[in-house]
Amino acid sequence: MASVATVTRALLGKNVLNKCKVVSATSQASMKFYSTASYENIKVEVVGSKKNVGLIQLNRPKALNALCKPLFVELGKAVNDFDADSNIAAIIITGNEKAFAAGADIKEMQNNTYSSNTKQGFLREWEDISNCGKPIIAAVNGFALGGGCELAMLCDIIYAGEKAKFGQPEINIGTIPGAGGTQRLPSYVGKSKAMEIVLTGNFFDAHEAEKMGLVSKVFPVEKLLEETIKLAESIGTHSPLIVKLAKQAVNQAYETTLKSGLQFEKSTFYGTFATEDRKEGMTAFVEKSPPNFKNE
Ligand code: CAA
Repeated sequence: MASVATVTRALLGKNVLNKCKVVSATSQASMKFYSTASYENIKVEVVGSKKNVGLIQLNRPKALNALCKPLFVELGKAVNDFDADSNIAAIIITGNEKAFAAGADIKEMQNNTYSSNTKQGFLREWEDISNCGKPIIAAVNGFALGGGCELAMLCDIIYAGEKAKFGQPEINIGTIPGAGGTQRLPSYVGKSKAMEIVLTGNFFDAHEAEKMGLVSKVFPVEKLLEETIKLAESIGTHSPLIVKLAKQAVNQAYETTLKSGLQFEKSTFYGTFATEDRKEGMTAFVEKSPPNFKNE
């Protein structure tokens, strides 16, 4: 006779499948942006059939989403709010069809000095994005240049529209990347490619970015956001707790030595055995039914 747990799982499974069907029917409607309260430089919305995806759109179209300080302060707040919201499984950062972001705001920093940068900790707030525990996906259409490319690299996954253009053109304006371009780019695409990109300032397109491993998938421009939401929703079917641990573990590969990364991985793997969701996942597998994760 089937156990209560197995029957419950089977019913839950049906619900999950039914909800999945609804995704495609409602995704267009749920992608409409609405303007939230006090933001001037970004738009924030919750999307997806389960309303568990936080969507942030950079919104300075006239300046090609140049990343001025007020924009970054708002972006940091929106990311922190989504990170703290238990209904949100993953976060998407996007721009518009012309620009994801054309870099740090050159007009804002034109008169900065070494001393003012140092005293204010210029661009300090950018690193806040990488402290987010939840997965962040960059959906890049148009230009992702300088700080725009660096912002995409601060995210965990990059999806691109086929007309996206990436680059680190700081060399053209007499400076160098200042938010990870000289550090993250080589570890993602290798030294020779990174040197070529940083030393020439040349742009490269979405397909080249995919070939280098900077971008995981390329889509037609108009499909990009829909596909990115699907990815976020797919991540959202898993245990949020285990997703967080998995993200931390992958990040170790870029932040520490192989030896300590492997140690971190092993103790995190062992640690999952102290969670209810690990027990649920394995039991569900053995009982051939969908898991019902509790984030515990
Ligand atoms: N900062 C401030 N304003 C910017 C900007 C930026 N990074 N990029 C574009 N804009 C503004 C332009 O000044 C212009 O404003 P106005 O209409 O007031 O003149 C508007 O956006 C539209 O730009 P363009 O007219 O130049 O548009 P285009 O289609 O002809 O060219 C472009 C597009 C090739 C992206 C060009 O705008 C460009 O080269 N932008 C600068 C790219 C760049 O150098 N980025 C690196 C910045 S430094 C940095 O990011 C440091 C770091 O590592 C953190």
